Amino acid sequence: MTNQELKQTIKDMVIVGKGILAADEGLKSAAKRLAAINVESTEETRRQYRNLILSAPQLENYIVGVILFEETLYQKSNDGVLFPELLAKKGIVPGIKVDQGLADLNDSGEKYTKGLDGLGDRLEVYKKTGARFTKWRAVYNISENTPSDESIKKNAEDLAKYAKICQEHGFVPIVEPEVLIDGTHSIETCNKVTDKVLKAVFEALKKENVALDCTILKPSMVISGKEADNRANVDEVAKQTIKILKENVPAELPSINFLSGGQTPEESTAHLNRIHTLGEELPWYVSFSYARALQGPALKAWQGKDENIEAGQREFLKRAKLNSLATQGKYTEDMEK
Ligand code: 13P
Repeated sequence: MTNQELKQTIKDMVIVGKGILAADEGLKSAAKRLAAINVESTEETRRQYRNLILSAPQLENYIVGVILFEETLYQKSNDGVLFPELLAKKGIVPGIKVDQGLADLNDSGEKYTKGLDGLGDRLEVYKKTGARFTKWRAVYNISENTPSDESIKKNAEDLAKYAKICQEHGFVPIVEPEVLIDGTHSIETCNKVTDKVLKAVFEALKKENVALDCTILKPSMVISGKEADNRANVDEVAKQTIKILKENVPAELPSINFLSGGQTPEESTAHLNRIHTLGEELPWYVSFSYARALQGPALKAWQGKDENIEAGQREFLKRAKLNSLATQGKYTEDMEK
């Protein structure tokens, strides 16, 4: 059932030492990121922000694919090149976030992800822009009574339906079940929740006959809640994350690319690096698909000012390079200086 097109996309996106950049912030998230540097979010400022990142010289040394937001597919760089074309020219695969954000699932504040209606038709439109892979994010909130079985089941089923539709239209799906870092929960709780979530996701993918060898998993790491006391150290995060992944992710899946999910840039790099120095045999390629952890320092350096574009790009390339080293277990903390 897997066709040549999907296999080629996987080949182009699974390259040792490289990872995926998530630059697919929707209007709300983009406004939040820009507000943090006192820039109003308009179509033009969002274009400038994308331009800074996507035109960074030698981006292709570290990045194999970029997840874009729909608006960005049709915007141009300062040099007048459509962003997906700019990426393709550098040998980077353009992708597209196809979910349409979150909606209320129940009274416990849990969410499900919108976007299945009309997805096939939208994919045909996106195809014309050169996009070759997709992303869909489901979220799970940890609290005393969440995530509920209802949320785990619904999100798994929808992730699988999404993945199936994308493969039928020739797109490699990135399946993103994000167990949120918010809260005071322990790493053990995160471990149990992630285990349940991944079990449900892979069961649903199997049921939908999704080709796992043409699917990328984008999980959160097994980590203590952001506000927890005595947060687990780098070693513990790496060990527990790999244990849970090994127990749940079939070896035929080619690539696992983590989200950063509110970890600091340094933390997310250190965790990825430790995963590669544990001495464990990993059946899949393990890399990154960070948004904030790659772009945060660049935005801060840029401040929306033309004279800071180069400084912003330097910050971005620094994080991209350090994460590239982390995928090879070659990162050390003193490289942060
Ligand atoms: P973060 O790395 O900022 O968590 O974003 C990844 C992503 O794509 C969220 O959907």
